[in-house]
Amino acid sequence: MDRIHIRGGNRLTGTIPISGAKNAALPLMAASLLTQGTLRLSNLPNLVDISTMANLLSQHGVSLEMNGNATGGHTGRVFSLNAGTITSTVTPYNLVRTMRASILVLGPLLAREGKAQVSLPGGCAIGTRPVDLHLQGLEQLGAEIELEEGYIRACVKGRLKGTHIVMPIVSVGATENLLMAACLAEGTTIISNAAREPEVSDLANCLVAMGAKIGGAGSDTLTITGVTSLKGASHEVVSDRIETGTYAMAAAITGGDITLTGGRLDLIESTAKTLIRAGVDITPIDGGLRVCRKSDRIEEVDVMTEPFPGFPTDLQAQIMAMVACTKGASMITETIFENRFMHVPELCRMGANIHVHGASAIIRGVEGLTGAQVMATDLRASVSLVLAGLAAEGETVIDRVYHLDRGYERLEEKLAACGADISRIRK
Ligand code: UD1
Repeated sequence: MDRIHIRGGNRLTGTIPISGAKNAALPLMAASLLTQGTLRLSNLPNLVDISTMANLLSQHGVSLEMNGNATGGHTGRVFSLNAGTITSTVTPYNLVRTMRASILVLGPLLAREGKAQVSLPGGCAIGTRPVDLHLQGLEQLGAEIELEEGYIRACVKGRLKGTHIVMPIVSVGATENLLMAACLAEGTTIISNAAREPEVSDLANCLVAMGAKIGGAGSDTLTITGVTSLKGASHEVVSDRIETGTYAMAAAITGGDITLTGGRLDLIESTAKTLIRAGVDITPIDGGLRVCRKSDRIEEVDVMTEPFPGFPTDLQAQIMAMVACTKGASMITETIFENRFMHVPELCRMGANIHVHGASAIIRGVEGLTGAQVMATDLRASVSLVLAGLAAEGETVIDRVYHLDRGYERLEEKLAACGADISRIRK
């Protein structure tokens, strides 16, 4: 397994191109199942999860042509996906188990083919993460659903039927699945308490370009008037707000000054407010954002994760690393996922002073962090260890970096270009 070596202490300066958002790209790729036409997606990040989704879709009969730039910056890759004929409505366990977002094919397959059999996602390191909201919503749209031998078996006679779905809690994935399914349902569907994440809006915009009738994108109430078919379209994936936030924190933790090309302030407003309170400057500039730290030391901040537009859970681990060296104490409360503090023991091994009480962590600032050998446990936890390593004295070695490859495109290259002493040791 590959490892990442970091020698900390370098102040980062320079430019980092922000890639297209993985969490937008995955549902957008699944949306190709809704049409016989060709869906052309640009600005796709070059990541393991994207390849996993491509494999999964090709197994359903989707033909995929890659004709974009595979390596260069925020212009990203271009995929043309065509689901002219769906050859299989079964999504096997070996694909779903590596990526929970595989569940996003359930709504489109069911809406288009009237049946789908998708393996239940397995347990996940950051909590139990059930799919009950996806299934309940599809049942409300008229699907019959059975759970058998680890599979979700869903079918519907004729078309799904529009209805009013009130989501009991905000779920990004369930909103996306139901939104896609409702596009081909008969009549009107209203989704109340829908997720407002930019990735949901990006999906809605693409579906509209494909001929769907969707009102309220970006709000917590989506109104979808079903159509009998959708057509092909071209769509550019929105920039990755989590990658933007992560590199903004890399600038902050190293006292650096970085330009994030393609970064958008409107996608990270709550994060930007938190960073400003911590003494970090974020300024929109032509084509991106400039981030630099004003103060000698990062100032303590309290953070609570919330659905968008609140502070994202996917930046919780990173901000914890960032506030490890303040003068005072910070409190971070995680409200979205239980068990999402697995980075805490690793950060403590690097000298951080963190205590977890239920859903909250108290971080008492220390003078400095020290390099150590640490273990990545999930995607965002691993990148928090990278941030800590950039600021720490001495060498940090991060194991299990395959987690990082699921969500950060060319991480070492982007950081090294700004002066970080970081390298990958391939095994
Ligand atoms: C998506 C993101 C993930 C992010 C999360 C929250 C993708 C591919 N992943 O994950 O990076 O951390 O949003 O912003 O976009 N829940 C249920 N029942 C369900 C579905 C969810 O109880 O059927 C719960 C979850 O356990 C969690 C909460 O709802 O506590 C929010 O999860 P959800 O928004 O669905 O996360 P994902 O879509 O899986």
